[in-house]
Amino acid sequence: MTIETQVFRTDNHNILEILRTCGKIIKQGGTVAFPTETVYGVGADALNSEAVRKIFIAKGRPADNPLIVHISTEAQLREIAQDIPETAFTLMNAFWPGPLTLILNKKAFVPEITTCGLDTIAVRMPNNPLALGLIEESGTPIAAPSANLSGKPSPTTAEHVIADLNGKIDAIIDGGPAIIGVESTVLDLTSEIPELLRPGGISVEEIRKHVGELLVCDSLKGDVIKSPGMKYTHYSPETSMVLVLGNCISVGDKISELVSDYQLAGKRVGLLVTRETAEEVFSDHLFILGSRDDVSEIARNLFAGLRHLDQQNLDVIIADGGLMDEGIGAAVINRLRKAADKLVVI
Ligand code: TXA
Ligand code: MG
Repeated sequence: MTIETQVFRTDNHNILEILRTCGKIIKQGGTVAFPTETVYGVGADALNSEAVRKIFIAKGRPADNPLIVHISTEAQLREIAQDIPETAFTLMNAFWPGPLTLILNKKAFVPEITTCGLDTIAVRMPNNPLALGLIEESGTPIAAPSANLSGKPSPTTAEHVIADLNGKIDAIIDGGPAIIGVESTVLDLTSEIPELLRPGGISVEEIRKHVGELLVCDSLKGDVIKSPGMKYTHYSPETSMVLVLGNCISVGDKISELVSDYQLAGKRVGLLVTRETAEEVFSDHLFILGSRDDVSEIARNLFAGLRHLDQQNLDVIIADGGLMDEGIGAAVINRLRKAADKLVVI
């Protein structure tokens, strides 16, 4: 079924009116995509089962992958979560509004569909005035996964959202490109020791400064998966992708070697690389992510790069994983690993 999707372009004059209109859509059980500092989300009233169901349908999202609930005040947190530990308040003071999602025990009245039947709830306060304004105007917490079709790279612009969800949701608020570009860090606070379930916009190193002990769940290394979403294929371009991982000094040589091999085999090759690697390799289809010295630039461009190369009708994408696996670099490498179907470790 196709519905008409209204796209709202914001300028300084019309913001309040747009937020009011979209707040009303949410209140009435509709779906609105909106910018956050990490990626665009597609939201619905977290306390309305029928509204939340529309998100799962629009995205084609598996029914066992729970949503993050977005709030604009601490009072809203107390409405939907219980047994909130002291650590949560410490972390909220340090990082909210911002790209940190906390897993807490939920209150019973929060609909099952929002948390997929779990006793826990994922909550975050986004650091974007349009997102916060929308939550306020809606007068309810907003459940919102990333606004992509399930499995595709997350959207960092309104154009990405239009490409995936036009005709499937009620409205899209265009707030320009997302500032961070990778999703929030997900931290489970429901057991004794806090546990990192997904690396993201706030680094592990930053979190460690505020908690005594921290467990790091690494599904890529075979750890038990506690965040339901981590078991699904993610961020995947249609085109097959090879990730070259390891020492940044030799990454350029390895990529050049792979390019020659693929070209000899008659394949069309695209490259997703750092500015430094770009100087050592050659391809007609090159997307420069940014400099190794500024990994936040790489994070910002990552999903746009994956989407761009995916549209070039290529046989293979080779991605540059020659980055330090720390800070926001850990989130970038995590997303690249999930997007890749082949790994070359040097
Ligand atoms: O930055 C972000 O987090 C973006 C923006 C829109 O806020 N949202 C986002 O949502 O990335 P989504 O649905 O794409 O990813 C949410 C992740 C999934 O891996 C999901 O399984 C996990 O959070 N999650 C949600 N509720 C959970 C829970 N109760 N326990 C464990 N993991 C949970
Ligand atoms: Mg997502």
